[in-house]
This record gives sequence, C-alpha cells and structure tokens, in this order.
Amino acid sequence: MRIVHTIPELRQALAGATATAFVPTMGNLHEGHLSLLKLARERGGPVVASIFVNRLQFAPHEDFDSYPRTFERDCDLLRSVGCNVVFAPREEDLYPEPQVYRVQPPAELADILEGAFRRGFFNGVCTVVLKLFNCVQPRVAVFGKKDYQQLLVIRRMVQQLALPVEIVAGETARAPDGLALSSRNSYLSEAERAEAVRLSMTLRDIQRRLRNGETAELAALEQAAMEELRARGWTPDYVAIRRQRDLLPPTPQERAAGEPLVVLGAARLGRTRLIDNLEI
Ligand code: PAJ
Repeated sequence: MRIVHTIPELRQALAGATATAFVPTMGNLHEGHLSLLKLARERGGPVVASIFVNRLQFAPHEDFDSYPRTFERDCDLLRSVGCNVVFAPREEDLYPEPQVYRVQPPAELADILEGAFRRGFFNGVCTVVLKLFNCVQPRVAVFGKKDYQQLLVIRRMVQQLALPVEIVAGETARAPDGLALSSRNSYLSEAERAEAVRLSMTLRDIQRRLRNGETAELAALEQAAMEELRARGWTPDYVAIRRQRDLLPPTPQERAAGEPLVVLGAARLGRTRLIDNLEI
C-alpha cells in the first residue's frame, strides 16, 4: 500500500491505472468505512482511499479542530482491507490558495435537512469531492447511506456535471445495539453512549409503523418522535419522512401509492450531534 500526500505523487502512483475505485473519507476509520472499501475492492481495479478533514465543510463553530485524527491506525486498517493507495493531502496540498472556485449545489436538495442546520455544508462537500475526483480520476466512487443526503447531493452533481464516475452506495454499518457507526461517537460519554442508540430506535419505530400501514399524518409521527427524544434529554434538529429520490415530503397520494420513503433524523446529545436514517 502506497501512502501519498501531494497531487503529483498521487498522479505518479496511479499512472496508467484504469478502473480505479475510490473511497473518500475524513479518517478515524471504523467498520462503516471499511465496508465501503470492501465494496470498492470487489470492483477489481486499484483501490484508493483519501483521508482529508475538509475545512470547507465545517462551520466556524463546528468541530474541525477537535475532529479525531488517527492517521497511523487508519493506515493499518486500510492495509488490512487491501487498499492500494492512500491519498492523505495536507491542507496546503489540496488548498494551496483559498479555494474560491466552489461547487454550489441546488438549494432544493442542499439547503434542506442537514443543509438547513449546517449552512454551506454541501457546498464544502461537493467542492472537495469534485476536487478529489479530479485528483484520483476514479471510475467508481463509494459513499455510505449513513450520510443519505450527501449521497444524493453527490449523485446529482455527478449527473449534472457529467462526471465519468459511477456512484456506488454502501449500507450503514451499526454497532450491535443498532447505533450507526460514526467518528463522532467517540465524543460520547459512557452514559451518552448508552442513550445514543435511542435515535436509531426512534427511526426504527417509525419505519415499523409505516411498513405496518400506519395512517397517522407523517408530520404527527415526526413531531411525536422529536418530542420523545426531547423528553430523554436530546435536542433534535429534525426527524423527517421524505421521498428517497429527492428528500421532498411525499404527497398523500404518493404515500398511498407506495412511494419509496426514508426517515432521517439529526439530534444532539450533550455536545455530540448524531445523524441516522432508515429506508422504509
Ligand atoms: P466521513 O464522515 O469520513 O465518511 C466517509 C464515508 O464513509 C462517507 O461516504 C460516509 O457516508 C461513510 N460512512 C460513515 N459512517 C458509515 C457507516 N456507519 N456505515 C457505512 N458508511 C459510513 O462523509 C465524509 O467523510 C465527508 O463528507 C467526505 C465525503 C469525505 C468529504 O469530505
């Protein structure tokens, strides 16, 4: 496994490579990331992972500085799953000058849900992902459903800008109790970690009800779920039942006709903000 930091080193490491499969990450890797690498490896070509904590997608008050950085351990894990090249640019390698050319995703997809609570987040994500795609030039890139809206935003960017990259989605990896694996879980205290599973349980409950033909208004289900989280000490940003294809609310007719839905939630527990979702 080669570890490279600069764009010229990366280009040299990948000279002549075809059918590259790429997994972009911010490091602090866990089984969720590794499951994406396994999907990448199944494609048969060289596998590239990037590790880069992207300042552009963090708001000033967010956790850019404290985001866990565990480079040596990440490299050991990547080696163990057969990764061929790790691209770990320093900030000055990827952003040698202020990144003023940016990808502005459409408001109807990027300013709702996560984008409403994290202003500019998807602009930062799209900008770095496009830049990483241009560095790696992959044929395939793998993203997790854990970040469901991010996956849709990237798919739409690839389609609108005709990027020659196939986007593959990986299922959400979970701890045995159901908590979605996340680098941010390491911020949780022991007591918070025990409570953290409640977010997935709440979404699971909505999933079960809808699958069983629940007739209550979706807004009422969302409100009840948020209330339940509040009662247990959470500060929910949203619980939302949306169409899988564009994350807009379904009409009653679409709901009745079996439109594929997804329930998404974001909530803070202490100082940790967690997100999760389930397809219905
Ligand atoms: P990061 O949070 O490190 O996640 C990297 C990839 O791993 C994303 O595609 C994410 O959806 C996926 N992932 C995270 N937790 C997962 C889980 N429990 N199961 C399955 N997949 C999971 O997402 C980012 O980094 C950044 O926004 C990035 C795309 C790298 C751009 O900076």
